[in-house]
Amino acid sequence: MNITVLHGQNHKGSTYHITKLLLDKVTTENDTVAEFNVNGIDDCIGCFQCIIKGEESCPHYDQVSAVMKALEAADVIIIDSPTYVMNVTGQLKTFFDHMAYRWISHRPHPSMKDKIGVAISTTAGVGAKKTTKMIASQMFWWNISKTYQLPVISAAMGWNQMPDKKKQKAERQTTALAKKIRRKIGHVTPGIRSRFMFFVMKQMHKGMDYSPVDMKYWKEQGWI
Ligand SMILES: Cc1cc2nc3c(=O)[nH]c(=O)nc-3n(C[C@H](O)[C@H](O)[C@H](O)COP(=O)(O)O)c2cc1C
Repeated sequence: MNITVLHGQNHKGSTYHITKLLLDKVTTENDTVAEFNVNGIDDCIGCFQCIIKGEESCPHYDQVSAVMKALEAADVIIIDSPTYVMNVTGQLKTFFDHMAYRWISHRPHPSMKDKIGVAISTTAGVGAKKTTKMIASQMFWWNISKTYQLPVISAAMGWNQMPDKKKQKAERQTTALAKKIRRKIGHVTPGIRSRFMFFVMKQMHKGMDYSPVDMKYWKEQGWI
């Protein structure tokens, strides 16, 4: 099993450590883990080149292509972010902007429907659920069929300050989640919402040539 982890932050605080707890429990010696963070990626400049010409035409393609390829190669994609002002970090949002061309409305990677996504966030008090929901929503639009969310209240400004009770709860949650993931691997099927959205996009690409690159891609995939 290939696991790709995308950290929405560069520092090793509560969020990083919760992800590590899950990784320790879900990974076996036969698995491969690739970890990235999204710091240092330039902001999307809104040039639309990825959509109208192709992703290689993005001025930041060299900064994002390794991560994108690792996402495509993964069976399980774990994305984490501390909750900042009730949402993901700015740098993770920047990466998500660069993935717009991979939305189901454009050129979703064909392997995405077989993958499991995991969205993790920690918050001092409120907002972690909103943050994991935001990450899960991106995964849905990338056409990932099954996503688990792990929002955690750290009640802290860092891992060393996180109360033992909260850490023990996180231990239990990550143990349960690791079991769910291992059971689900190889048995992922798109749900009704995914299938419906794919059908809608199919009709759209059949009827509207708003992006020749997208339409060509859908034809090459044999989807239209
Ligand atoms: C810029 C910034 C914004 C934050 N926004 C929120 C927030 O909206 N709600 C909240 O409860 N905690 C907020 N926090 C606290 C963090 O979410 C919390 O400490 C989290 O566990 C930090 O994770 P980390 O240790 O991985 O950095 C914020 C912290 C920072 C630095």
